[in-house]
Amino acid sequence: MVSQKTIDIVKSTAPILKKQGKQITTRMYEIMFQNHPEIQSQFDMSAQADGSQSAKLATAVYAYATHIDDLAGLKSMVEKIAHRHVQTHVQPEQYPIVGECMLQAMQDVLGEGATPEVIDAWAEAYQVLAEVFIHREHEIYEEEGVS
Ligand code: HEM
Repeated sequence: MVSQKTIDIVKSTAPILKKQGKQITTRMYEIMFQNHPEIQSQFDMSAQADGSQSAKLATAVYAYATHIDDLAGLKSMVEKIAHRHVQTHVQPEQYPIVGECMLQAMQDVLGEGATPEVIDAWAEAYQVLAEVFIHREHEIYEEEGVS
């Protein structure tokens, strides 16, 4: 479980994520595809080009910010994303890459708003969400007999 302090800080970033979330996720993909070009093959690049992928990710990040203390309320979202991740062969070791690119993107877009406190809180929060996905995706891979 994340600390109450982290919950409070992450929740306090929700309004800014509502406003600038898509800018952040667009920047996140830019950094990720530049630093890890091999990951591109897992993505539908037309959904990248029309911005729909960044919008979906921004919606998910915002939902998490507002439900960080109510993970049960995110169940249907997690299910949908986890199934899509399994379809596109997402692996546990890729989570730190996305996390790092996301934190960098927050810094780039929010500038001084991305205080060390905010970044630390999101680093901890991301880790928890990543574990939720990794666990659920592991189950789905097992059910499907692939891993
Ligand atoms: C906590 C971290 C993550 C969140 C919140 C997240 C969120 C999402 C969302 C909202 C979607 C769209 C699902 C849909 O189409 O309904 C998605 C799809 C996808 N995600 Fe993630 N994701 C995360 C981590 C990762 C990681 C680590 C990878 C590894 C490369 C990844 C790769 C993908 C791919 C390949 C798709 C499908 C994209 C497509 O349809 O072109 N995601 N993710």
